[in-house]
Amino acid sequence: MEWVADAEGLIVNNSVAVNEELLQNAPRLKVIAQMAVGYDNVDIEACSKYNIPFGNTPGVLVDATADLAFSLLLCSARRIHEGWDFVRANSWALGHKLSFGIDIAGKTLGIVGMGQIGAAVAQRAKAFGMNVIYYNRNRRHDDDKIGVAYQSFENLLDKSDAIIVLTPLSQETRGLFGREEFRKMKSTAYFINVSRGPVVNTDALVEALQSGEIAYAALDVTDPEPVAQDHPLLKLSNILITPHIGSATVETRTAMAQITVDNLLAGLADRPLAACVNASRIIGKSEKSL
Ligand code: DGY
Repeated sequence: MEWVADAEGLIVNNSVAVNEELLQNAPRLKVIAQMAVGYDNVDIEACSKYNIPFGNTPGVLVDATADLAFSLLLCSARRIHEGWDFVRANSWALGHKLSFGIDIAGKTLGIVGMGQIGAAVAQRAKAFGMNVIYYNRNRRHDDDKIGVAYQSFENLLDKSDAIIVLTPLSQETRGLFGREEFRKMKSTAYFINVSRGPVVNTDALVEALQSGEIAYAALDVTDPEPVAQDHPLLKLSNILITPHIGSATVETRTAMAQITVDNLLAGLADRPLAACVNASRIIGKSEKSL
């Protein structure tokens, strides 16, 4: 809040709350560039009100995030980290039993949030012989082309053997998965969240995993995030958690950094941003440059 008072450009990530208070404190600000595609930490209305273009990094992280989402499904289904723990603990030599995973071929994958990343996950799932259904606020127009079937949210909960959540965090999606929703899933269901932690009611998820309402969860995002060492999530045996690494590959983070810097420099020079969330709302300088 102190140094932002002099800033003309600002680079942020999801851990910074870009709100009215910050913007009021930054009278010289011409551009905000976020190194992420999601922007639930940002008050876009307020940015537009102060006539500040807000840039993000869409497109370049699609494959990396889809790979991570599908890896979490495979690792859970085949109990990869349990297998590694087993080997490390010498359980193999000691003749202990290892619990089996499940086949994913022939199973139904439900994708909630079917944008570019959802379509890329569907492509991977099809290659592994899965049947793919999805729920999205707006139905896609290319279901046949990508080989997926639209379902109501209720039907998806009921029919899926595994659910991958990719929806952005918004007022409508906050707490989308709660007690009711876990109750409607199969007791054998795998639940994978690669979107944002608050899309899920964490207490309800812990209960569902403890009571066997669902079989297993894999989370790249949590609420709270980071998750404390003594949190009930970390005491479960039917869970796998990674530290928000959807886009964390060398190639993808490099591409994201490049777009972020390009956005920043464009904004400082009153040029259009390569990727701007509120381009249509910026007036004045936009008439000159956008
Ligand atoms: C994104 O780009 O939104 C990823 O979740 C990284 O924060």
